[in-house]
Amino acid sequence: MSVIEYRIPQQRRLVTDLPGPRSAALIERRRHAVGAGVASSVPVYAADVDGGIVVDVDGNALIDLGSGIAVTSVGASDPAVVTAIREQAAHFTHTCFMVTPYEGYIAVAEKLAELTPGDHPKRTVLFNSGAEAVENAVKIARVATGRSAVVVFDHAYHGRTNLTMALTAKNQPYKQGFGPFRPTSTGSPPPIPSARAGTTTAPRSPGSRPPAAPSHRSRGRSGPTTSPRS
Ligand SMILES: Cc1ncc(COP(=O)(O)O)c(C=O)c1O
Repeated sequence: MSVIEYRIPQQRRLVTDLPGPRSAALIERRRHAVGAGVASSVPVYAADVDGGIVVDVDGNALIDLGSGIAVTSVGASDPAVVTAIREQAAHFTHTCFMVTPYEGYIAVAEKLAELTPGDHPKRTVLFNSGAEAVENAVKIARVATGRSAVVVFDHAYHGRTNLTMALTAKNQPYKQGFGPFRPTSTGSPPPIPSARAGTTTAPRSPGSRPPAAPSHRSRGRSGPTTSPRS
């Protein structure tokens, strides 16, 4: 078994009250410089992250229960990732694959085909964010099927762009005041029993999606909505 070596000791250690003075100063700077619509879960500011520990700007070592909302699953500063980023950045950071393509894009697509379930042919397109990926998945599905309706699960979150807000079930804090949204999706209970139980017992926030609709046919206006493309 390989032993992982960390730059930062994997221990929780508090050296100031939270937030410490340096985080408190950043909170004040932020108040003037950063829009109020961006919230943060914790009042401390990260200086270094390694393994399961975040060290804040005051030197407090805290257990990293967020891990970048679970997307830094290989760690926040894994040496292999750091080396790969450094090597790539020394050559070019961006050409736009649609203008000047490069091998790395193809290599990522090949790796995803290898790692994802199923041995059928698979192809990939890459996007900058989750919301952009969801939007493009909807575009691809609409062209492929000729239908425009999108079925979303109750309580689902899909992003902060206009279409993904429309697909997001929860009104507060994601959608309130940001409409209008295109009425192209219908609510459906999630396939997870515990979450499904939540859909019948949890109170609904004002303006949130109604219970599962009897039909998933589109209420939108673009394109055919009920029959698959022949
Ligand atoms: C399930 C799901 N879909 C979409 C998104 C939106 O991703 P992004 O913030 O990268 O646009 C998120 C982000 O948390 C998500 O959890």
